[in-house]
Amino acid sequence: MNNRPHLVRTLDELRLRLSNHRRSGKTIGFVATMGALHDGHISLVKLATDRADITIASIFVNPAQFAPGEDLDTYPRTEDADIAKLAAAGCDIVYLPSVEEMYPVGSLTRVRVDAMSDLLDGIYRPHFFYGVATVVARLFIHVSPDIAVFGEKDYQQLQIIRRMVRDLGMGIEVLGGETYRDRDGLAQSSRNLYLTEDQRPRANVISAALHRAAIRIVAGVAVSEVLEEARARIIAAGFDKLDYVSAVDPATLEDLAGGPVPMGYEGRILAAAWLGKTRLIDNMGFVRAG
Ligand code: PAF
Repeated sequence: MNNRPHLVRTLDELRLRLSNHRRSGKTIGFVATMGALHDGHISLVKLATDRADITIASIFVNPAQFAPGEDLDTYPRTEDADIAKLAAAGCDIVYLPSVEEMYPVGSLTRVRVDAMSDLLDGIYRPHFFYGVATVVARLFIHVSPDIAVFGEKDYQQLQIIRRMVRDLGMGIEVLGGETYRDRDGLAQSSRNLYLTEDQRPRANVISAALHRAAIRIVAGVAVSEVLEEARARIIAAGFDKLDYVSAVDPATLEDLAGGPVPMGYEGRILAAAWLGKTRLIDNMGFVRAG
């Protein structure tokens, strides 16, 4: 077990602590979280500790990315357990800002990455990427990291953050950490805690459907046919609602054409579906070798 990380709750304290590290030439790696940490988060922290001298993780349940009626109040809050996991992963500083620290009273400034935020999840959760870009931009300004690690599990979020960093010239290297999966393939997510015993065994059907879809696209089957089969498979498994299964271009997140993808093409398939009140998302990359 590593030493307990420093717990920092204010921006002033954070800047003071980080300026000491910067003065001694240390690089800063950053992982933003909303807590309820699972092995997927910890793998991101480990990637940051491998790549930077000092690792800082934030825990902040960001009200701006929840719409009225979503699970802001019931979102799992497990601070003590989270800190213990971060300590074991070698994290040096845990930043736990209050809502007032992140959004000072009277703040008017928001960040929005156009177009990419309105596709896929953005259609079903129009507030979401606006809230994410705003809080991540603020966290980046607070922490000023050299590198930042985000999970590929939230692929649209990762690509939007990459775009924001590029567009605003933030000079931060954004790394994608591989999706961490349970043994049956279900992508790990804090919201998996909401799944009932009856729902859990079916939850891996999304990853199985995406896996098969990736194999078929790589084999040259038409994208429209592949997506139709993947959608049918998820619905047949008893999901209550399917928001989307889409194959997209990673840079723009725009839908691919319906035919076979060209040789050498690298794309992404993403899905979102509901089991009762739990919304699950997942994605997989593919490359058509040749
Ligand atoms: O992925 C998450 O947990 C959140 O969207 C993030 C990036 C911490 C912003 O609140």
